[in-house]
Amino acid sequence: MAPDIKTVFCVCFFLVLSGKDSLQIASTDIFKSHGGAKDNPLMQYVLNNSLREHPVLEKLRLRTLEDPWYFIMVAAEQAQLMANLARAIKAKKAIEIGMYTGYNALSLALALPEDGRVVACEIVENYTKIAEPFFKEAGVEHKMDVHLQPALKTLDDLLAAGEAETFDFVFIDADKKNYDNYYEKSLQLIRKGGIIAVDNVLWSGKVVNPPEGDLSTQSIDQLNKKLHKDDRIDLSMLTVGDGLTLAFKR
Ligand SMILES: C[S@@+](CC[C@H](N)C(=O)[O-])C[C@H]1O[C@@H](n2cnc3c(N)ncnc32)[C@H](O)[C@@H]1O
Ligand SMILES: *[C@@H]1O[C@H](CO)[C@@H](O)[C@H](O)[C@H]1NC(C)=O
Ligand SMILES: *[C@@H]1O[C@H](CO)[C@@H](O)[C@H](O)[C@H]1NC(C)=O
Repeated sequence: MAPDIKTVFCVCFFLVLSGKDSLQIASTDIFKSHGGAKDNPLMQYVLNNSLREHPVLEKLRLRTLEDPWYFIMVAAEQAQLMANLARAIKAKKAIEIGMYTGYNALSLALALPEDGRVVACEIVENYTKIAEPFFKEAGVEHKMDVHLQPALKTLDDLLAAGEAETFDFVFIDADKKNYDNYYEKSLQLIRKGGIIAVDNVLWSGKVVNPPEGDLSTQSIDQLNKKLHKDDRIDLSMLTVGDGLTLAFKR
């Protein structure tokens, strides 16, 4: 089967991301159902036997695949995992740091009770415009609280409004250089037993040998090492997608 243009683009992108001589990481190491693992039979098996995608989530995913940056979208199977975690801890309040077109924000909203709330942070208005009709169609717009400004500002606003230790779940998925700031603020905002999910912790394999001057990789690697020793949390680093660390606040 001939690869389509998106696959070619995606593979090229990940090769550039990985750096040819730093590591032998194939695009398939990013185990996303709409990325490197798209045609992987094992991934197909996983999706065929576990994905339960809400019809509006499916529509939003298909709409997002038309955007040139579609590959930054969260993988459907990863969003489902995080929605299940949110349900397991009976989450009511969540924060999405880096919403893009809203796939994970919508997935979380669908997992929260009727009086739940998703604070979603994004700086690109076009992306929030794509997301909004889907929030409406899924009947969860009353749970969505979208903030179109830098995420750090939104997190500070929440702290200033007295919302420390009131959130149950945070997904960190915006600019990598601010990851440590997002983590520290999130830790203040969530309750004991709350979960912080940190995305892209493997950064297509580059963290194994961070290239000199590559601030994003260094920032992620430093946070990974910090979390390993951080006794404020319990943690697991999963190889789902581009790597996902779950931090459970003690
Ligand atoms: C990897 S994407 C997020 C994918 C999303 N979580 C999903 O469910 O598909 C990262 C997003 O973070 C946004 N972003 C980058 N810097 C930001 C900042 N300082 N504050 C808020 N959002 C930011 C980008 O515009 C982009 O849409
Ligand atoms: C997954 O489902 C599709 C569509 O039903 C089918 O064509 C494919 O063979 C299945 N693959 C696996 C590995 O289960
Ligand atoms: C936002 O959308 C408008 C109209 O569709 C387009 O002209 C513009 O380039 C887009 N901007 C960004 C940052 O994607």
